[in-house]
Amino acid sequence: MNVVILAAGMGKRMQSALPKVLHPLAGKPLLSHVADAARTLNPRQLCIVYGHGGEAVPERLRAEDTVFVRQEPQLGTGHAVMQAVPHLDESVPTLVLYGDVPLTSPSTLQKLANAAGADKLAVLTVELEDPTGYGRIVRKNGNIIGIVEQKDADESQRAIREINTGIMVAPTAMLKKWLCTLSNNNAQGEYYLTDIVSRAVGDSVEVVSTQPAAEWETLGVNSKVQLAELERIHQRNVARALLEHGVTLADPERLDVRGTLTCGRDVFIDVGCVFEGNVSLEEGASIGAYCIIKNSSVAAGTQIKPFSHIEGASVGPRCLIGPYARLRPGTALSDEVHVGNFVEVKNSSVAAGSKANHLSYIGDTTIGSRVNIGAGTITCNYDGVNKFRTVIEDDAFIGSDSQLVAPVTVGKGATVGAGTTLTKDAPAGKLTVSRARQSTIEGWQRPVKSSNQS
Ligand code: UD1
Ligand code: CA
Repeated sequence: MNVVILAAGMGKRMQSALPKVLHPLAGKPLLSHVADAARTLNPRQLCIVYGHGGEAVPERLRAEDTVFVRQEPQLGTGHAVMQAVPHLDESVPTLVLYGDVPLTSPSTLQKLANAAGADKLAVLTVELEDPTGYGRIVRKNGNIIGIVEQKDADESQRAIREINTGIMVAPTAMLKKWLCTLSNNNAQGEYYLTDIVSRAVGDSVEVVSTQPAAEWETLGVNSKVQLAELERIHQRNVARALLEHGVTLADPERLDVRGTLTCGRDVFIDVGCVFEGNVSLEEGASIGAYCIIKNSSVAAGTQIKPFSHIEGASVGPRCLIGPYARLRPGTALSDEVHVGNFVEVKNSSVAAGSKANHLSYIGDTTIGSRVNIGAGTITCNYDGVNKFRTVIEDDAFIGSDSQLVAPVTVGKGATVGAGTTLTKDAPAGKLTVSRARQSTIEGWQRPVKSSNQS
């Protein structure tokens, strides 16, 4: 089928310089949610009608499979679909979606497409407690004969509670024909897409309707209030799916997933965590409160303690991370590695059983197995222009408050004394220290204030 996504409207009530359809829901523009749902139907054409906000929309959403058509000025939903006409393949039906209705499920769209088949007009409708503002579905003997907009409706029509969600599937050749007959002779002076329903009736094309599995699938975003409401609905859905999969959530209302979170068995997630991009948590992993984890994997049995920040890292099995640990891109931790409070690791690999438990910076470093990194150890990886690597071999022991000035290597089993500034390699198996010798000055007296000094 062809898919046309209408996204030219202005979204004045968002009170924002950003075009409405680019506002993020779960970290992704509203319009991307719609385009991704459309893609599940393998459309022959995916066409986005944009206008307000200028080129920001095509710039943000550009993709191989997408054509963008500009609607300028915006003269209504019918006029918007007209702009896409040259791109529509007549041998398949056309699905119209709205760029500001982000949560429609693929199965609801598939059901609508099935109802339309090759030659019917299918409209996705819902019955609302309060239908104010929406186009009403007008039926005669149970059959849909038209859609009347709120502003054009008379009192009896306004009492109808079945509304047009705006999502429709139409036979494409007929759609093109009907669009040419639209007029803007109505309360809003717009070319209404909804008028194709009465055209279909006139041409004896059957008009059918289906309903979404849930009402929220058809909710649109017109304001920040509605955006926040849909964000919560989406997050609740994600949390529910995780719970059904066997994940333990301390509070499903206090979890934010902005991307894809994949969990093994017996994973525990405490309150306030944010997961971004692609994150996988393997069997038995436990995530403490208020962690932020982005594009990372956490292997089985690992504990991430509260307030840790992890991005672009691969964390091995049975590790202990945090509290207050920071793992940055390019970090690869092997089995049973400990990274403690206020330790930052970047672009470094750490082999099994090694520990950096307190207050350290480990950057561009290769650490072997069973290494102990003392508190306050810093790898000096940057001379202001270039970055250099530090290598710390198996069983090395780095004393507290040492600086390792890269490029430098600490050999297997070497010990570096506390407070050392290492500028040359530390040989394997030996103690290396660079430290001024301690001395005590006999007879030294601490200065005292005289009484007339202020
Ligand atoms: C439309 C429907 C109404 C339906 C409601 C559901 C029409 C005439 N009315 O009304 O029956 O109940 O949606 O929310 O279709 N857009 C453009 N170009 C335009 C005008 C709109 O791209 O010139 C886009 C908007 O960006 C938006 C969508 O079309 O994504 C719907 O526009 P909107 O103004 O919200 O339509 P409504 O008047 O609410
Ligand atoms: Ca609307």
